[in-house]
Amino acid sequence: MKKIEAIIRPESLEAVRNALNIAGVTGLMISEIEGHGKQKGVVQQWRGERYKVELLPKAKVEIIVKDQDVGRICKTIIDNAQTGEMGDGKIFIYPLEDAIRIRTGEKGEAAI
Ligand SMILES: Nc1ncnc2c1ncn2[C@@H]1O[C@H](COP(=O)(O)OP(=O)(O)OP(=O)(O)O)[C@@H](O)[C@H]1O
Ligand SMILES: [Mg+2]
Repeated sequence: MKKIEAIIRPESLEAVRNALNIAGVTGLMISEIEGHGKQKGVVQQWRGERYKVELLPKAKVEIIVKDQDVGRICKTIIDNAQTGEMGDGKIFIYPLEDAIRIRTGEKGEAAI
């Protein structure tokens, strides 16, 4: 199992969620976050001395998937979140040790 963590534009979230639903994703987590990438948002000079790194709003989508589904799910996200402009976001992929469904005690892939 893997955890896919996608940082995307908030305006892409609805399309990504719909596509993930069609792709058969049953569970996910969504958070509203702030962050910056290479461009550090907008760099501003304030009273001639301070520079502020601007944080821009992004949406974080976290999904636990079987190893065999990682490529297909990442493609689904990219197909619905890519504008080609800077700030489209990133996908991070983590190995996942285990999952447990609390109601039943099911573990591993049976729990996702
Ligand atoms: N190295 C990183 N570590 C943690 N979070 C990151 C990293 N890079 C990007 N992010 C997150 O992804 C969001 C979007 O990043 P962004 O797409 O601007 O990356 P980028 O490297 O600047 O690429 P681009 O040149 O396409 O803008 C950031 O606001 C931040 O939340
Ligand atoms: Mg950027």
